[in-house]
Amino acid sequence: MSTPAATPDETLAFPIGRQCPYRPSAGYDAFRADGPLSRVRLYDGREVWLVTGYAEARALLADRRVSINPRVAGFPALSAEMAELETTGYTDVLIGVDPPLHTRQRAMLIPSFSVRRMNALRPAIQDIVDQRIDAMLAAGPPTDLVAGFALPVPSMAVCVLLGVPYEDRAAFEGPARGLFDADPERAGEAMAALTDYFGQLVRAKESNPGTGLLDDLIAEQVRKGTLSRDELVLYAMLMLIAGQDTTANVISLALDALLFDLGTPIDRAIDLVLPDAEVLRRLAGRRTCRGCGRTWHTEFAAPACPNVCDRCGGELFQRHDDNPDRITAGLQSYRPAAAATLSHYRASGKLTSIDATLTPAEVTAKALA
Ligand code: HEM
Ligand SMILES: [Zn+2]
Repeated sequence: MSTPAATPDETLAFPIGRQCPYRPSAGYDAFRADGPLSRVRLYDGREVWLVTGYAEARALLADRRVSINPRVAGFPALSAEMAELETTGYTDVLIGVDPPLHTRQRAMLIPSFSVRRMNALRPAIQDIVDQRIDAMLAAGPPTDLVAGFALPVPSMAVCVLLGVPYEDRAAFEGPARGLFDADPERAGEAMAALTDYFGQLVRAKESNPGTGLLDDLIAEQVRKGTLSRDELVLYAMLMLIAGQDTTANVISLALDALLFDLGTPIDRAIDLVLPDAEVLRRLAGRRTCRGCGRTWHTEFAAPACPNVCDRCGGELFQRHDDNPDRITAGLQSYRPAAAATLSHYRASGKLTSIDATLTPAEVTAKALA
């Protein structure tokens, strides 16, 4: 579905993929040199104007005849996925809305984003950051910055901001990501699950108010009849989604910038490629000795007597995270979390993929090559 329509002149295709993750594609240089206006062709074959001149862009953005509403006929969606997503309703507050409605929607949120309110959130956000760093230090190396820090910090912080219980994350984290699924049916299911979750949350808050942006809006708007429950649910969803991957990406990229400044830039990222069934076979067979802590394997390193440590006679047990359900769940959450990291290092030409079905010696040799 994401394959661009065949175009007679490929030089017009828009948007253009990045080569370097830090910079817009060099392919745009020609359009800028041609500026301030160029003709480009979208994924669906339509030709539209691309504005690259600063003065022209300013004039256009301030012109009330221009709309950001994707439901307006002829709106130039940038991909089939975006066109599909824009029909789900998630753009119906703020991001896909024109003035004067947009101005009214923004005005409702402004009090919850005052400097005073942001400063009041600082201690809670500092706690979140401290907790995640402590957890990574306690677990010891190696550590996964994205899974351990970059993703949970914005998720937890936006929960504090909105007044959403982070303990409920199983109900909203998966669906929030599912909204961007290329399969429209799965995206629709994710939207329904989020609507359902936030609908229930809003009703619970109406009888039992807390201290978040949603609680502010219930008190200041919903009760007075200036905002419907359905609209509030859309605000909640938008804020949750808008603050997630954006912030997670900035945090992750900051590591690159930091290491670069310290004079130790990341020069290689290694991806050990292993089929899920093999991961399961290797991990689910692992047994650990209660006595000396040594690990064994039911298939690859079996002790002489099952469940008894050859070294110390201690009893062998299976760690709770080595059980097949935990491993499968881990793989499912790892895939989406790793996708962005992998594509980042692939795009910068630093990714080495190694076939991890080889022997440990072969994998090590390839990693050090
Ligand atoms: C570093 C992190 C972030 C980046 C890079 C980022 C980027 C952006 C961009 C580029 C837009 C404009 C989209 C458009 O008009 O097409 C936008 C809008 C928006 N963002 Fe963010 N964002 C970040 C964090 C957040 C957070 C944490 C929240 C919520 C707590 C948030 C909420 C919103 C909302 C509500 C809008 C729509 C505003 C409007 O149209 O009035 N963003 N963001
Ligand atoms: Zn032992």
